[in-house]
Amino acid sequence: MAEFQYNLVSDGKGGQIKFPVFISQADMDLIEKEFVAKDDDVFVTTYPRSGTTWTEQMVHLLVNNGVQGEQRLTDAVPWLETLPHRPNGMIEFLKTLPQRRLFTSHLPYPLMPSLGNTTAKIVYVARNPKDVAISTYFHNQSKLGYEGTWEEHFQLFLTSDVGCGPYFDHILPWWQASQHTKNILFLKYEDMKRDHAGCVARIASFLGLQADPQLIDTVVSLSSFKSMTSNETTNFNWVPQREGVPTHFRKGDIGDWQNHFSAEQSQQMDRLFMEKMKDTGLQFDFGDGVLMP
Ligand code: A3P
Repeated sequence: MAEFQYNLVSDGKGGQIKFPVFISQADMDLIEKEFVAKDDDVFVTTYPRSGTTWTEQMVHLLVNNGVQGEQRLTDAVPWLETLPHRPNGMIEFLKTLPQRRLFTSHLPYPLMPSLGNTTAKIVYVARNPKDVAISTYFHNQSKLGYEGTWEEHFQLFLTSDVGCGPYFDHILPWWQASQHTKNILFLKYEDMKRDHAGCVARIASFLGLQADPQLIDTVVSLSSFKSMTSNETTNFNWVPQREGVPTHFRKGDIGDWQNHFSAEQSQQMDRLFMEKMKDTGLQFDFGDGVLMP
């Protein structure tokens, strides 16, 4: 079966999870040792392909009063796991950040740096696993050198780990933590699609920001799929991607999995979904009129 390229990183429980090749155990060790959370910090945390970039843009705009600025999103909301790669190292880079530091992360809950007694906040975004599976397949082809077929990738997604840990192992601990931790806001991609303005307002209120209707409108407009793909600071065109494969911004829809999944794949995912999610209280909208579980 075709594999994609990855690094193995300790999951903190005696096992290992797959991270993109450019993130090493040494990076994770440095972050664990040296990264110190501050009161105003905001982390946009997700399983990959769940709406990270979109949420980064909303948070960035809200915190900056609707002003995009000149920085690329990857600098305005830097990726925590890659901080050790900054030219002068992580500690020097952190000194250059504004008072309200924004970060993005794909870390599973147990690997997230401790927020200690700070009032730092985490916006966690989850997406239904069928759309994540198909989006991840194109992403792993485009950015991580994956050469296999969709069917092979689907089986990998179901049975193991296609990057940053298995999907359900990521979502569930974050969901459970959000139920008893007031500094975690758990959002769903599908809710952001169906009520973009409502979710912008929820993020603003969670971050303690006064967002008047004009600011909400600006954030909704500048974080639309169309606007983000045409904006040079948000469209990710600076990240190398394989030619002929959909880009970082692919479709941005709920339910695109229906164009790729066979009936059998859909049933296989439904069975696994029900097994993992029943009794958790977490429901997903798959875009085909079905809410599960
Ligand atoms: P698709 O591949 O289904 O199109 P991430 O940023 O976590 O990697 O997630 C990428 C997914 O979010 C892609 O999904 C991408 O198209 C979608 N996305 C990015 N920006 C979006 C936006 N403004 N509105 C809706 N979807 C967006």
